[in-house]
Amino acid sequence: MIQTHLVTGGAGFIGSHLCDRLLSSGHFVIAIDDFSLGNRENIAQASTNNRFLLIEGDVSCPLFWEKILKEQSRLAATDVIWHMAANSDISAGVLDATVDLKKTFLTSFHTLEAARTMEVKRFVLASTSAVYGELQTPLHEDSAPLNPISNYGAMKLASEAAATALTSSCLDRLWIFRFPNVVGSRSTHGVIHDFVRKLNANPSRLDVLGNGTQCKPYLHVEELLNAMLYVVDHADQTVNRYLIGPQGTTGTTVKHIAESVVRVYGAETQIEYGTSNRGWVGDVPQFSYSIERISALGWQPDLSSDQAIERAIREIVAERRIHS
Ligand SMILES: NC(=O)c1ccc[n+]([C@@H]2O[C@H](COP(=O)([O-])OP(=O)(O)OC[C@H]3O[C@@H](n4cnc5c(N)ncnc54)[C@H](O)[C@@H]3O)[C@@H](O)[C@H]2O)c1
Repeated sequence: MIQTHLVTGGAGFIGSHLCDRLLSSGHFVIAIDDFSLGNRENIAQASTNNRFLLIEGDVSCPLFWEKILKEQSRLAATDVIWHMAANSDISAGVLDATVDLKKTFLTSFHTLEAARTMEVKRFVLASTSAVYGELQTPLHEDSAPLNPISNYGAMKLASEAAATALTSSCLDRLWIFRFPNVVGSRSTHGVIHDFVRKLNANPSRLDVLGNGTQCKPYLHVEELLNAMLYVVDHADQTVNRYLIGPQGTTGTTVKHIAESVVRVYGAETQIEYGTSNRGWVGDVPQFSYSIERISALGWQPDLSSDQAIERAIREIVAERRIHS
């Protein structure tokens, strides 16, 4: 059935791929972005489609919603809201706690309020492994305690709570996805993006944040979209919470990523590692994902973490469209 999907953060890395995927399935897509982290190149293809509408603005601002709900009659047709807008720079949120209050929590809070006003019954929230903090066991949906170590993780956890609360009064269906590290073309941040940006500036030396032993699961953005769309079609509890991860339980080390980027980039590069076992304050250096719940629902990833990394490196190096 053709539907209207509203995607906040639609010009960002994941949001723009989501817009393209929804458009390719024949849906109408309304993307909202303030371009604080995303960019227009990401939505260049979508913008040529007459089923695509871009609205520029700040979804953490109630006045913005008030204004567009009056002006944009197409919003009334919204069937599903995909809330992707957030701060994606975790270290910026550690330096200034108001960054994640505004960009990670208030974006969620006011988008949820907009759902209430518009009487949209279905809501998808992009959440994160960062809600877990430093749990030592493989992470699954019911792992506890949830003790985030970054403001980003804390404000995502608060967003999850605000969203579940709204299911008691307004939302019929809520899907909360806790992503691991997502990689692929159009990335606006992240380890591969960072390395390629540094190599573009100086191909002879690559400075790595941390000692390279950090080891996490990486998921390709195409697989993330496959999984989210599958779950939205197949999971119909009131609150549906899913981890989406790559195949297998083995993550990828930062050392492996640095060496692979240098190999694919093709320069004579000296790799210089830091001394800490974490990249920055608030970085969770090691974790692994259990994808039992989504597997039981019938979705399986095709790529391992290493394969996702290899594919993303080729895409990002070829793209060379790195936005610092
Ligand atoms: N990429 C990952 O590895 C990853 C991992 C876990 C969770 N997530 C979550 O997935 C979602 C998408 O992440 P991404 O990697 O595409 O990040 P991104 O930074 O590329 O995209 C976020 C988009 O939101 C926009 N935005 C930010 N604040 C806004 C505001 N106030 N109003 C309107 N637009 C605003 C930005 O301009 C950007 O285009 C985010 O919620 C992020 O927290 C991403």
